[in-house]
Amino acid sequence: MENIKAYVTQHKDRFINELIELLKIPSISADSAYSQDVLNTADAVKKALLTAGCDTVEICETPGYPIVYGEKIVDNNLPTVLVYGHYDVQPADPIELWDSPPFEPVIKKTEIHPDGAIFARGSCDDKGQMYMHVKALEYMVENNNLPCNVKFMIEGEEEIGSTSLAWFVERNQEKLANDVILISDTGMISNTQPSITTGLRGLSYVEVEVTGPNRDLHSGLYGGAVANPINILTKMIASLHDENNHITIPGFYDKVEELSTEERAEMAKAPFSLEAYKKALDINEVYGEKGYTTNERNSIRPTLDVNGIWGGYTGEGAKTVIASKAHAKISMRLVPNQDWEEITELFTKHFINIAPKAVKVKVIPHHGGQGYVTPINNIGYKAASKAYEKTFGITPIPQRSGGSIPIVALFEKELKSKTILMGFGLDSDAIHSPNEHFGIFNYLKGIETIPLFFKYFTEMSK
Ligand code: BES
Ligand code: MN
Ligand code: MN
Repeated sequence: MENIKAYVTQHKDRFINELIELLKIPSISADSAYSQDVLNTADAVKKALLTAGCDTVEICETPGYPIVYGEKIVDNNLPTVLVYGHYDVQPADPIELWDSPPFEPVIKKTEIHPDGAIFARGSCDDKGQMYMHVKALEYMVENNNLPCNVKFMIEGEEEIGSTSLAWFVERNQEKLANDVILISDTGMISNTQPSITTGLRGLSYVEVEVTGPNRDLHSGLYGGAVANPINILTKMIASLHDENNHITIPGFYDKVEELSTEERAEMAKAPFSLEAYKKALDINEVYGEKGYTTNERNSIRPTLDVNGIWGGYTGEGAKTVIASKAHAKISMRLVPNQDWEEITELFTKHFINIAPKAVKVKVIPHHGGQGYVTPINNIGYKAASKAYEKTFGITPIPQRSGGSIPIVALFEKELKSKTILMGFGLDSDAIHSPNEHFGIFNYLKGIETIPLFFKYFTEMSK
């Protein structure tokens, strides 16, 4: 595998152009207006896997969007790596905040990406990172050095909760049998300090609806005499955190695993500049749970955040009105041992409990998933660590992430294998935000590092 770097350099322009073509398809799973584009993306992924060297590739139908499954089995006595990724992307809005159209990729240099970055929705999350694996396969097949079996499972509903993937995994345990699952859908600390994600947070996502009077009312004739659902909803939401920013839902923290002082000290060694963090976000101060650092708040601690809130009149000018209904979408990020269904129930009970009699409250659970932590003493982690060390020249740091990939816990339960999260994105790549981008350096480094994981994992499995 000494020639991997040369191969990447030689084919660099084509690798970039192929990704750009994939990024042009707006595969937004959340918006049914794009359903044909989501399906077309699945077809494009199928073609790419076949061209890269899979023996068979199928579009597997599900109750929702299809799963692209491909494999190349070289020898049943060798280990099998299952690569997972997603071809769907987040909606692009607010579209007016993009400097270039989200589905017309452009390459621009940035301070952090002096070699340039591809700006497009999905460039980092996850088309770009998924496609690194397709190109890594191409390299290994083309150069006759695929050291083990490989299976690909690329889904189209990750951004909306992976419902169909759960359905698929439960029904296809044998087909998906593997020795390790490999995912590039997370990030690393920086381009000079790689890290491997060893934890993901769980998630409970709910929508709430507060109803007051049976119709919108004149705020002069009725104001002050009936409950205003927006006033009530915002008051209820505000009460979900106390003055120390602890969440007030009874039982919420019962199962939260408290990390030892040693482990927290270990975490604190990761390079981090609070000043640079504040500057990058243009904030004067950070904000969060008392007693924890910024990096602890966004990884080992659970959270509750309003993701959207609406109701009443928001059009031009003024309209004097008391709305009949107010709504909010709320996400709770969970840490290992917190059960997302239990947390959803605790939230529901509490939210109904704190509502004044003057309103009716509905809680609609959307989706969720369990958190995940992976030990660092298994060969999967060791192989990944060695691969990064070889291509970056530095040992990667294990780091828990605040994001969620709920399906990972299900993989462990159904397929009984560990997942290794080899992410190459950066937190500043603006995933889910306007101007999402993925560094060319990161993309090519990923393609270079993945085949080494295959090599070391196979060697360490002997
Ligand atoms: N790739 C992200 C998750 C991620 C990003 C984890 C960076 C760690 C670091 C994934 O596509 C995602 O956005 N997940 C959602 C959850 C899903 C159920 C909608 C999330 O974390 O909000
Ligand atoms: Mn993703
Ligand atoms: Mn995402």
